Parts: sequence; C-alpha cells; structure tokens
Amino acid sequence: MIEVRNLWHIYDGKKEALKGVSLTIGNEIVALVGPNGSGKTTLAKHLNGLLKPTKGEILVDGLDTREHSVAELSRVVGYVFQNPENMFFEENVFKEVSFGPKNLGLSDEEVEERVRWALREVNLEGYEDRHPYSLSGGEKQRLAIACILAMKPKYLVLDEPTTGLDEKGAESVKKIVRKLHRDGHGILLITHNMELVLELTDRVILLYNGEKAFDGGVKDFFELNLRDYSLDKPALLKISSSLGLGFFRDLESFLDSALRRVSQ
Ligand SMILES: Nc1ncnc2c1ncn2[C@@H]1O[C@H](COP(=O)(O)OP(=O)(O)O)[C@@H](O)[C@H]1O
Ligand SMILES: [Mg+2]
Repeated sequence: MIEVRNLWHIYDGKKEALKGVSLTIGNEIVALVGPNGSGKTTLAKHLNGLLKPTKGEILVDGLDTREHSVAELSRVVGYVFQNPENMFFEENVFKEVSFGPKNLGLSDEEVEERVRWALREVNLEGYEDRHPYSLSGGEKQRLAIACILAMKPKYLVLDEPTTGLDEKGAESVKKIVRKLHRDGHGILLITHNMELVLELTDRVILLYNGEKAFDGGVKDFFELNLRDYSLDKPALLKISSSLGLGFFRDLESFLDSALRRVSQ
C-alpha cells in the first residue's frame, strides 16, 4: 500500500504546490485528475522519492520515502514521466529497456529475460533494434512503460500516458493498464481523458489548487459539477443523462439499455 500523509510540497520556499494531501493506493487502478497546475505531477514524483516532502510523509509498502533513495524506491514504485519521449538516451529499444534492470545489478541473462518480457507486455516485440526516436508517439509511450516494467515495480504511476496519442494509441495504453492491473499491479493513472477515467477506474482522486477536492467512486465523481474544476463529462454520460438513462461505464452497456427502452 502507498500511504500519503498530510503531504506539503513548497517549491523554492514560496510556491505551495501541495497543501496537506492524504491518500492511500492499494492494488487498484486509481485515476488522479485535476486542471493543469493542480499538483498531479508533483504528487507523482513523491511516490518514488524524486521529490521529498516539505512536510508530511509517504510510506510505500512501509518504506518512508525520506529515508530511501530513488533507486531503492523505484523497485517498488515505477514512475512513467509525462512526455517520456524526451527521456530516451540509448541507440536502440533493447538497450533502452535494459538500462533499468542492468542498474539493479542483475545477470545478463536475467536482464535479457526482463527486456523480452517487458517488450512483450507492451506489444513491442520485434522493435529491439529500432532507434527510440524512430518510433511513433504511441510506440514511444509503450516503450516508456516497458522501461519501467522491466524494473518489476509493484506500483506504476503513469503521468498522462495518452496525451497526444491517437485513438489507436490510447486504446493500446488502455489494454496495457488493464492487463497490468489483472497481474496484480497497483496503478495511479494521471489523466485529462475522462473517457479513460470512466472506462478504466473505480476510484478517482481530484486535486485542485494543491488540495484533495474529491476521493471516491467513479459514479460519484461524475456527479460532481466538473466545470468547477475545468473538467468535463464524457460524451457518453452527457447523452445518457439527457435521455434519463443513468450511469454507464461503456458504450455497449449504454446501447443495450437504450435499445431496450426503444423496444418497450
Ligand atoms: N520545479 C518547479 N519549480 C517551481 N514551481 C513548480 C515546479 N514544478 C511545478 N511547479 C508549480 O507547481 C504547481 C503544480 O505543478 P504540477 O505538479 O506540474 O501540476 P500538474 O501536473 O497538475 O499540471 C504549478 O503551479 C507549477 O507551476
Ligand atoms: Mg503534470
């Protein structure tokens, strides 16, 4: 379990980016949402120790992030950066994914096995010799996920993984997230994509001005007045509520219910 207790983060002694945030994350998919500048990335960077609390504390499976290095914490919590495409530095995909497990001091065989496995998980088999910068946007995002997966962390934090991707790219990230969750990973999904929130997550945490404004079930979340937080409902929920049809997680169950009503 990841436990965040009364976390404050103040940049340069003046910018209060997080103001007393408390939350827990277990083996679940949790969405972290909020307008730009609300503190999502700042919170994410605390979970593997890239940032340390100005006040408050974070425990990841009992490890206090103030007392452990990023290298140690990264074995438990993997953070896939916002815009990871700027972070590749190896000449090919295989070497890029090897970097993390190599640094864990694993044998060459174990490194290779992890790289092959991680590339399979994200559907990038056969890309081993490609230059990371030659990949498409969606492939780069999947490569970034593979780099983190190869460290075998229990928790994954994905910072806006579908921003800038087309429908197909977003769909494949969605599949990967589902599979990772089925395999027992806890996932914090930072996103502006409300369709993704609706389809993938049971629980939503909303940050606003560095404070937690909501933490609860996805259905209750979509009953908030989201415009107050510069967010908007997915089209599916707008249509279903204007037809008086209630709450649906996906188009299929909505259509089922709509057709049943028409045929009554
Ligand atoms: N390195 C930094 N130095 C100073 N202020 C920062 C830094 N990083 C982020 N901030 C500020 O902290 C606030 C939260 O930023 P961030 O966590 O990136 O929000 P989000 O990810 O929700 O868009 C913003 O006002 C941002 O300008
Ligand atoms: Mg951000």
